[in-house]
Amino acid sequence: MFMKITCTSILGLLLMLSACSQPVGIVPEPVKLTLASGHYILDSNTTLLFLNVAEDDDIRDYAPDFILRYFGLSLAVSAEPEWERVPNLNAIVFHKNADANPQLGSEGYSLTVSDREVYVEANTGAGFVYALQTLYQLAPADVTAKKPERIPLRAATIVDYPRFEWRGNLLDVSRHFFDMEYIKKHLDVLALYKINKFHWHLTDDHGWRIEIAKYPKLTEIGAWRVDRSDVPWLEGEPPKEGEPATYGGYYTKEQIREIVAYAAQRNIEVIPEIEIPGHCSEILASYPEFACDTFNYYVQIGPYWPPKAIMCGGNDRVIQFFKDVVDEIVELFPSEYIHIGGDEALKGNWETCAKCQQRIKNLQLANEEELQSWMIREVEQHIRQYGKRIIGWDEILEGGVSSSATIMFWRGWMGDSVIIKAAERGNEIIMAPNSYCYIDYYQADPATEPQPAIGGFLPLQKVYAFDPVYESFPVAAIPFIKGGQVNLWAEFLFVPENVEYMLLPRLLALSESVWSPKAGKNWEHFVDKLPAQKKRLAALGYNYCDRIALITDEPKPAETAE
Ligand code: ACM
Ligand code: ZN
Repeated sequence: MFMKITCTSILGLLLMLSACSQPVGIVPEPVKLTLASGHYILDSNTTLLFLNVAEDDDIRDYAPDFILRYFGLSLAVSAEPEWERVPNLNAIVFHKNADANPQLGSEGYSLTVSDREVYVEANTGAGFVYALQTLYQLAPADVTAKKPERIPLRAATIVDYPRFEWRGNLLDVSRHFFDMEYIKKHLDVLALYKINKFHWHLTDDHGWRIEIAKYPKLTEIGAWRVDRSDVPWLEGEPPKEGEPATYGGYYTKEQIREIVAYAAQRNIEVIPEIEIPGHCSEILASYPEFACDTFNYYVQIGPYWPPKAIMCGGNDRVIQFFKDVVDEIVELFPSEYIHIGGDEALKGNWETCAKCQQRIKNLQLANEEELQSWMIREVEQHIRQYGKRIIGWDEILEGGVSSSATIMFWRGWMGDSVIIKAAERGNEIIMAPNSYCYIDYYQADPATEPQPAIGGFLPLQKVYAFDPVYESFPVAAIPFIKGGQVNLWAEFLFVPENVEYMLLPRLLALSESVWSPKAGKNWEHFVDKLPAQKKRLAALGYNYCDRIALITDEPKPAETAE
């Protein structure tokens, strides 16, 4: 019998051929990817089928929403517990294992795309979230831009799970404030690249960003500064007498809950950071009685270095303040960790403050570093009463720290001995060394970059070279390394487009550093995968840097803006 050749079948064939010619490039690179010939055609008749997935599992809402937004298809959802796998059923099947598959762990998935069905197996909802991100990348790169009626998904078998449990990103919302809409957009792109920790830097000299009922002035006063957005960051001058403070904002408790839930649906845990005891001009502007001195503190504008503001370590009300803040924070964030800052706390005020010196004497502390450690221990004990743990920047090691604290290593110039010593003491470590992870640095020659950055040079290739486990680490230290993250400080990021430009595509490089097996990483392959990724990001409305500077492209010092 002759095949009847119709326009539709020719179109279908062309669609297949064009899809076949597109390279498949998944970021982060999966553990095991086997491509097969053929495609599954996703269309409006496809059903989403949930097997052994609880009624209230987030994935039941997330999967149809994701497919509508990214593929443009509104799909029917079905849950038939007695369902047996029927050949030729047009379905994406999400099958939660009744008995956990140990290989997949708590975030892994296996995904089989054949011409008959898409079949996902996972132990958890997190695995399904990640299977969807991968599925998106098996579709043509222009799928979101074009939203065709029939979408070919490349046939493949994938088994995938992360190398590290901590795959994070810090976003500073103090130096510039980003609204709810942007935070959600930011979380979406984190999820796309299988990042599971959103480190929300909510407090700093330039603005307090979270509603705290017991201390209303934090948001009445501390969230607002005189607006200098019309001049470059470095030119932001201190406020003049009587100038109104109009730049800023904060998240209400209700908004925080909304973000936490939105993130959870994407397998992202939100870790709040409350800075103790430094980086606190905004607190002292709101509650001057918490300072060591009578200086007229104000919510900072523009560059603030050295950051002299510090909470008085000799004032019991300061300790109570942080405990009270913790009491409200723990109600909002289900995360196991609370980040207590601890970085760059200059202690000049403590040296000359009678109350601080009295505390040092009473507690027989050796110096101001130990006073900081004492303060942090006080707050840590309070946090532990809630069954939670602290993370602090690596400076918290300086005056001694309990082994239950998790250390976030950022000062790359300190070398690896600090990390090794902490791990030997039993502290867990999260790696965010500035030399590999500070994506507020330039990613290409400042002379040709479209927006100013804080300085430094961190090209995509260097982020790609990041490995949270340094070769110099002794074997015994390795289990203490929880993973890594990229940090995005926002001094120079006035608007969301600036944030996205610095984040993308360096986030993609980080994702392979923390998700993919070490042996699965390959820079050239990664670069080959980028054009399709950028197409998707553009269709989703993200700004990104389109140049791929190499480590060897470092501009001569005279050319940098530092
Ligand atoms: C930091 O960059 N001060 C943690
Ligand atoms: Zn003091």
